[in-house]
Amino acid sequence: MTKVLVLYYSSYGHIEQMADAVAAGARAGGAEVDIRRVAETAPAEVVTAAHFKTDTAHPEIEGPDALADYDAIIVGAPTRYGRMPSQMAAFWDTTGGLWMRGALVGKIGGAFTSTASQHGGQETTLFSILTNLLHHGMVIVGLDYGFKGQMGVTEVLGGTPYGASTIADGDGSRQPHQTELEGARYQGKRIAEMAAKLK
Ligand SMILES: Cc1cc2nc3c(=O)[nH]c(=O)nc-3n(C[C@H](O)[C@H](O)[C@H](O)COP(=O)(O)O)c2cc1C
Repeated sequence: MTKVLVLYYSSYGHIEQMADAVAAGARAGGAEVDIRRVAETAPAEVVTAAHFKTDTAHPEIEGPDALADYDAIIVGAPTRYGRMPSQMAAFWDTTGGLWMRGALVGKIGGAFTSTASQHGGQETTLFSILTNLLHHGMVIVGLDYGFKGQMGVTEVLGGTPYGASTIADGDGSRQPHQTELEGARYQGKRIAEMAAKLK
């Protein structure tokens, strides 16, 4: 069976919800799916003062070597100033050994993200994730235009050809829209199908 990993970081739960949707899509695409989060590296006082969401059902990734067990890896992270958060970057900074061995070469990779504002850095954040996957030799699958929900300008919505996305608003009050969750499911399913084809 094709094995897919959804690896994410989320401070306030938007990306966690998107991760669940990506995973549901990958399962619908026939894959066995694990959802793992990367370690929180912010100091405890920051986590408390900034009201990060700390309760989650998803276990932390065991370590970088775990990545080698999967046929596809889909990485989700909210933006920090237009790029991925240091929590996610710190994890990828531990994958040098995998890179040396070429352990991820030829696997399928994808990314999804969240920003506070509509133009707060969705594409740049996605590419800050995708560059890591490309350096590992992974084959990128985005959110293709078969997903019609990313078209149209009458509603404020996430969704980019580079990966699924949502918009949280400045106070985090906006929750992922059904169309954005559909985009996440679509990308997860597409990646599972592509991974099965390459296996
Ligand atoms: C330090 C910091 C920097 C941020 N920078 C941006 C930014 O450049 N653009 C933006 O739209 N949102 C920015 N945000 C908002 C987060 O992206 C938003 O809280 C996140 O998308 C919500 O996802 P989550 O619930 O999964 O954490 C920033 C948040 C923090 C804490």
